Amino acid sequence: MGFIPDEIIETVRLRSDILHVVSRHVQLKKKGKNYTGSCPFHDDRTPSFTVTPDKQIFHCFGCNVGGDVFKFLMLKEGLTFFEAVKTLAEQAGIVLPADDSPAAHKRDARRESLKQINNLAKDFFIKNLQHYEAAAARNYLQGRGLSPEVLERFQIGFALPGWQTLLEYLGKKGFQQQDIVEAGLAVIKAETGRTYDRFRNRVMFPIWDAAGRVVGFGGRVLDDTLPKYLNSPETAFFSKSRTLYGLYQARQHIREKGYVVVVEGYMDVITAHQYGAANTVASLGTALTVEHGRILMNYSRNVIIAYDADAAGVAATIRGLDILQDLGCEVSVVSVPDGKDPDDYLRRYGVEPWEELIRRASSLIEYKLRHAAGKGNVRTVAEKLEVMRQVFPSLASKGGVEREEGLKKITRALNLSWETVAGELKRFEENLSKKWTDPDKIVKNTHTIIRKEEKFDARGKSESVLLRLVLEDPSLAETIRSEIGEVPFKNHNYQRIFKNCLELYNKPGYRPEGLFNILDNDDQNLLSHILTLDIPGENPIKILKSYIDSINRCIRQERREEILEEIRDLEKSGNSAIYNDLLRELVLLKGIDEAEKAGDQDRAAGFLNEYKKLFNFNNGNHLREGRDSI
Ligand code: UTP
Ligand code: MN
Repeated sequence: MGFIPDEIIETVRLRSDILHVVSRHVQLKKKGKNYTGSCPFHDDRTPSFTVTPDKQIFHCFGCNVGGDVFKFLMLKEGLTFFEAVKTLAEQAGIVLPADDSPAAHKRDARRESLKQINNLAKDFFIKNLQHYEAAAARNYLQGRGLSPEVLERFQIGFALPGWQTLLEYLGKKGFQQQDIVEAGLAVIKAETGRTYDRFRNRVMFPIWDAAGRVVGFGGRVLDDTLPKYLNSPETAFFSKSRTLYGLYQARQHIREKGYVVVVEGYMDVITAHQYGAANTVASLGTALTVEHGRILMNYSRNVIIAYDADAAGVAATIRGLDILQDLGCEVSVVSVPDGKDPDDYLRRYGVEPWEELIRRASSLIEYKLRHAAGKGNVRTVAEKLEVMRQVFPSLASKGGVEREEGLKKITRALNLSWETVAGELKRFEENLSKKWTDPDKIVKNTHTIIRKEEKFDARGKSESVLLRLVLEDPSLAETIRSEIGEVPFKNHNYQRIFKNCLELYNKPGYRPEGLFNILDNDDQNLLSHILTLDIPGENPIKILKSYIDSINRCIRQERREEILEEIRDLEKSGNSAIYNDLLRELVLLKGIDEAEKAGDQDRAAGFLNEYKKLFNFNNGNHLREGRDSI
């Protein structure tokens, strides 16, 4: 980000039509002022995907993802923010104008450098592989059985052993050390301040984005030194959580075969491609993320995971698989026998047995059951319940045959009756629909949790409307602050959006959609949700007042309960000074509420005034000093 001035981003946004862009991927139907359709980011049976042309935003009420037209393109086509803006600018016929200030020139030159540096480095590494100093590397690659074709296809190269070979090469081409560092190819040694090549004496694997541009590298040692692989750091272009190694080479094959195989490492991908299993990509040693899942779904929903049999952190693996499944992927798991990784297996047995393994991949539920049982004795009721808890998410919401099959497998694996398992699953699903995610909590104290949730809900709902109103007209913030407090929102995300909104409002040309450039992913999803809400009623000032009142009532209610609790504690310790203050506060709070209920605004205002005088009133944050000074 940051390479394109904000005004230009806004112009591109204004000239692009989100309806038009989304319609290329989703069939939309008009519904009031919105359009709805099936969400392209998860398996959506009830159309929960909404586009609001007014605001130029989308939001899915099913998987809770949302944002502006740029975000849509980023998710749908696996682009970076910069690429999304550029794509839309081109489509809208906007030439990203050259900014003539010296600062802009410098910035542009730097951006170009960063892009070029990775590409030049790749070519340099490839050339190095023919260098006399690279004999060991050539031997190594040959020893691993890589064909010349696949070396070329994956643009494999070699970083010479010298400390500044690449730096010197790029320096001669006129690149600044600082840019080379920023591109991830050199590091500055803290003690000496000297700059040297990040990758030395390593076989170099370029990493591409979905458009086929080199965004980073993995470098492997030739022996057993550690770390085995060194990777480019996260840069403006490279994010591991959004990158799948080999996707550029694999994508056509994934579409043709109708499924994708995800492996762990560089060599697994390369070997698979060499053997003709070219629908293979790697997650580069990291856990699968939602972004990975969304990118994969652009090519196929059928995902087969083939991680090393000895994969460390099976729990993390399973979490990754749940993520994919939640997005609506069909996930199966291949366990490579004898502790081998796919690369070893393919070389030893060839592609036929490999594809046979893939055909026999286990469903996620089988995999989980096997893993749970693999840990040994599942005998006690508690252990069986624990296994069910792990497995049920893969089964919940599935219907028909799949559900029946899953239930059968569980009954067999746990040696329980069908009724028992089916009953547990039903209970699990009921809890799920009540949004109970942590069953432990329910058992502990159902009663208090329900009350707290409800209370939060009332305040949360009012806060979301309030935020909706401020987003539309940030000048309302003044009233909100003076009526509720400097930090009016209890919900931290809302508060953060509120703060950012006011900052943006200070600059010219405020539009709520501009916030999408500033907020992080979670907040973007929340923002699109809130902006999709209708404003209930026509007169924002009137509505504002009633929601502020409602929030203040909630705050008073919370404070009253807090006081009661404090009083109960004090009764035990007998600290009477504070005790009296608390009682006085309680009486006043009650007075305000009762006067309000009776519709006696004057009386309520009188109590409120007195309350504010005596107690430092600020959104429920009662400063001790305030109370002590009475
Ligand atoms: P593995 O240790 O399974 O390596 O790590 P591998 O792919 O089998 O490598 P070879 O066959 O010995 O060459 C799997 C992946 O985890 C990442 C790499 O992406 C690797 O391919 N990794 C591993 C690192 O980033 N750094 C490391 O030090 C090790
Ligand atoms: Mn390996």
